[in-house]
Parts: sequence; structure tokens; C-alpha cells
Amino acid sequence: MKPNPLLDLLSDHCVHSGESLAKQLGVSRTAVWKQIRKVQAEGVEIKTIRGQGYQLVTALDLLDRQRIVERLVGAGSDKVDVMVLKEVDSTNAEVARRLAAFTAAMPVVLADAQTEGRGRRGRNWSSPKGQNLYLSMGLTLRGGFEGLSGLSLVLGVAVIRALNAMGVSGAGLKWPNDLYAGGKKFGGILVEIQGELQEGQVQVIAGLGINVHMTDAVDVDQPWTSLAKHWPDHVWVRNELAALVILEVGKVMEQFQSGGFSEFRQEWQGYDIFFGQALTAKDGALSGTGGGVDAGGNYMLDTNDGRLSVMAGDISLRVSG
Ligand code: BTN
Repeated sequence: MKPNPLLDLLSDHCVHSGESLAKQLGVSRTAVWKQIRKVQAEGVEIKTIRGQGYQLVTALDLLDRQRIVERLVGAGSDKVDVMVLKEVDSTNAEVARRLAAFTAAMPVVLADAQTEGRGRRGRNWSSPKGQNLYLSMGLTLRGGFEGLSGLSLVLGVAVIRALNAMGVSGAGLKWPNDLYAGGKKFGGILVEIQGELQEGQVQVIAGLGINVHMTDAVDVDQPWTSLAKHWPDHVWVRNELAALVILEVGKVMEQFQSGGFSEFRQEWQGYDIFFGQALTAKDGALSGTGGGVDAGGNYMLDTNDGRLSVMAGDISLRVSG
């Protein structure tokens, strides 16, 4: 997505005269007026103050590739190929297309909106424009399919580390890989395997959806929140969050490739919102107490018949009562 110089100038929320905008942008006042009309039509609220000029009303947090990439410099930024789109069907689908085109660097795709955002188990992922983070990364892993065990859990750890790096604490993980705050979901992770195993390597698309500024959602069928709703005192900047998530995913992937999920088990358990809770699984056919994860990332349920491991993808766990 190209940065918009007009919105950049207006982003201080001060009143700017048409004349000064025209001068700074090197265009005529009519061209400024036309640009104002265009962004207004895209949903950005700009007030016209007669005799004075224009003032931005909507709080803006624009995605900007340059601002993301400059935060990655020195941390292997040459190995990632970041693309920021205005709109796409699904960032996971876009990464799949790019992997199919054999790009050398690791594709990272962000979009301001998704028209067919995908959630786990065939669900839609609500993806309104300009509010949230929709981010997918193409990852190449050694060790075949067995090596993938616990991968999605590790990605959840990466997101929490990114939040911690911004000074935000208190986020939790709901097994296998939902991001939670205050008992509500603010994000999810969709891991999709791409193609066949080749020379012991497998390509995986890791898609992360994080509700950042969202205050309304029409098509979400579970209790949800957003970062700005739960942590209203923090100034949320999507470019900063995106860069930190990319960096943390890069770091956890290295650690995961060398040591597997057991490296993260203890940390993951520290974020486990199910631990010690009365849980049911298999639509109530199983019940017990949350006991954390095993070394393979399966969830352990302490039942009357002893400890059972629940495999990701098999069943979902719900707090009973
Ligand atoms: C879930 O159901 O909890 C997983 C949601 C994953 C959503 C993200 S948004 C970016 C990426 N692109 C998609 O189409 N889905 C994932």
C-alpha cells in the first residue's frame, strides 16, 4: 500500500489550509480538494472548516510498508519480502500464490482489509478495513511434518512476546492458538501447510489476525475484544505491532527449529487461560481439569480416569458451567 502524503500531513489533526497543503504537496488547490474528496469517499472523515481549511477527524493508523521494513533492518530484513496491500481476498492465499511463484526471500503479506479472511475450521475471519492486523508469513521448516507439532502454539508465544516488547502484559493463550485478554478473544492464528514435503522441508503459511482498533463487529459469533478496547491507555500503532510480530516470529522459528516445542512449553503454560479450569471436550463427552500442554503441544486434561492428551485439530476445549 502506498503511503498517502495528504493523510500524512493531516495526521497531526490540526487545521491545514488548502493553500498550505497545495504548497507542501506541490499541486494545485483544486487537486488538493479532489484528493480530499477521494479519501472521504474511502471512509476517512475530514472536516472542512470554512475560511480555514481541512481537519482530520478519524483517528488514523495507516499501514506503511516503509515504516515496517525500517524496523526490521539489521534483523535479517534482507531475508523477508514484505508486501502491504490495500485489500486482498486473504493474506494466507496471497502468500500461497507468492510461494508458488518461487520467491527467494520469505514472503510476508499484510493487508488493510480482507474480502475472504479465513479462520480455523472453515470459519470466516472478520476483516474490516483500516482497523486490525491481517498478517501472513511463508515459513520453510526442516524436519518433515512431525517437526510441525506445536508450531501454531509457538506462534502464539511470538505474539505475546511482541506485546510484551511494547510494554503490554496480561495477554493469554487459549489452546491451541487463540489470543485472549480479559476472557475474550482478540486474535487467532491459522497455520496452513503448502504443498508436499520436499527434501525434508515443508512450507507452511502462518496467518495471524489481531483485532487492534476494532470497536464494532457484525459477523463475529464469539466474545471478542481488541487491543485498543482492552488496553485503551496504550497508543496502538499497527506498523510497530506488525514489525515486532515479524521479528518475534523470526526468533521463535529459529528456536523452534533447533529445539522443538519443548523449548517453549513452560512459557506457553504461563499464558494458558485453561490451566486449572473445569473443562469439557468432544461436546461434553469428556470432562476434566486443564493441566497444561505436553511436550508435543497436545492439551492435557485431568479426568476421573487419569490424564488424557487432546490433540489439536481433534476436538476443542470449552470451560464448563
Ligand atoms: C482463527 O480462526 O482463530 C484464526 C484466524 C486467522 C485469521 C488470519 S487474518 C490473516 C490471515 N489471513 C486469513 O485469511 N486468515 C489469517
